[in-house]
Amino acid sequence: MKISVIGAGRIGSMSAFEIINRDLANEIVLVDIVKGLPQGEAMDLNQMASEKGKSVKVVGSNEYKDIKDSDIIVVTAGFARKPGMTRMDLLKTNAGIIKEVAQNISKYCENSIVITVTNPMDVMNYIVFKITGFPRKHVIGMGGLLDSSRYRESLANMLNVGRSAIKALVIGEHGENMLPMPRYSTLGGIRISDILSKEQILAAEENTRKIAAEVISLKGATVYAPISCVATMVESIVRDKKDIIPASVYLDGEYGLKDICIGVPVILGKNGWEQIIELNLNEEEKEKFMKGANAIYNAIEELKKEGLLT
Ligand code: 2OP
Repeated sequence: MKISVIGAGRIGSMSAFEIINRDLANEIVLVDIVKGLPQGEAMDLNQMASEKGKSVKVVGSNEYKDIKDSDIIVVTAGFARKPGMTRMDLLKTNAGIIKEVAQNISKYCENSIVITVTNPMDVMNYIVFKITGFPRKHVIGMGGLLDSSRYRESLANMLNVGRSAIKALVIGEHGENMLPMPRYSTLGGIRISDILSKEQILAAEENTRKIAAEVISLKGATVYAPISCVATMVESIVRDKKDIIPASVYLDGEYGLKDICIGVPVILGKNGWEQIIELNLNEEEKEKFMKGANAIYNAIEELKKEGLLT
């Protein structure tokens, strides 16, 4: 299994770290435009692999040609949020970068599965899909799983129960309009919407939406939670686990939407996403889901106006 990671910053290199620790690849290529950075990260990672007696080989490179024929590509290139920024604030800065990344992916790879991490992730994932021309099942954005982990954390704290007792689901935009789903989240099989009061549900939602910004204001970036989610998605694909994971995918009529990437639950296996699970949204959920969709549509329109996307 050859896995390439584009961008050797904290998210990229730590994704490689977690992929190694979960034994998901025998070859990892770390690519970055910064001279020396991917090479240095690769050396450090190889030395860690050596200590653990793992046979994976990590290569650091400044050249896209080294990603040739990757099975999976994780895209983390671009700028990260700074304190006070929303994910959408990165739209134009990162669109140009991701466009170039996607052009290079399609130049050197024919049939890879791409996991997009760069923010604003849904829009960046849409750019990757459009520019690579890969099958839609092969272009998957990481965001919903991360938001769901935060929702789980928030619910576990509120209910004072173990995290593993909770299954939490967040769909929609990976951004200001993310949509935690108390009707589809459970404590030991009981719906959260049947356990918590309206006020508690709203508080948990608010916490989930804002908590990443709080981490960024305290330590400058979110790292461990996102890279763990990247590895979980890679793992579901590599091991053909067919886990149900909320992820950003290109919709072609599902959820009543077309020509957009947005977070919905999908089954992830060796062929990429294998099935979209269509939830029966009520009016309130639909309205919130559409608010996120419209934010993504508007961002795509803005990029088209600027000539960054055709
Ligand atoms: C996160 O949610 C910033 O999208 C990144 O951690």
